[in-house]
Amino acid sequence: MEIQKLITAAVSAQGNSYSPYSNFRVGAALLTAGGKIYTGSNIENASFSPTVCAERTAFFKAISEGEKDFTAIAVTGSDNKICMPCGVCRQVMSEFCDANFRVICVAKNGEYKEYTLGELLPFSFKLGEKNENV
Ligand code: THU
Repeated sequence: MEIQKLITAAVSAQGNSYSPYSNFRVGAALLTAGGKIYTGSNIENASFSPTVCAERTAFFKAISEGEKDFTAIAVTGSDNKICMPCGVCRQVMSEFCDANFRVICVAKNGEYKEYTLGELLPFSFKLGEKNENV
């Protein structure tokens, strides 16, 4: 899968962002090992804490459809800063992905940087399992 195709899917998912409070539109595109893409956008709430990020929307759509293996995610925001996944989303990624999972962080102008999940969340919490980073 070409990175550019995943980025295009993330940008298109921004179109469904519901973000009237922050006006920060986020889109994510999650690639499965089988080559399928699940997209997600951020969905905000007047009560703030129920707000869900674009990355988690994409993950929960995929998981609830029975997907288990993921290779990459692209995430883009609506400004020219490279959009990094928040800590909660990194923890969700670590539940379903290993340290080699690719995280492609994109800015509105198309600039992007690629990281591994291991770089973004070393020493992650895993219940009942020895931490693989120790
Ligand atoms: N947001 C995401 O969708 N993903 C992130 O990783 C960071 C933050 C959203 C949540 C909220 O709707 C808006 O960006 C501002 O924080």
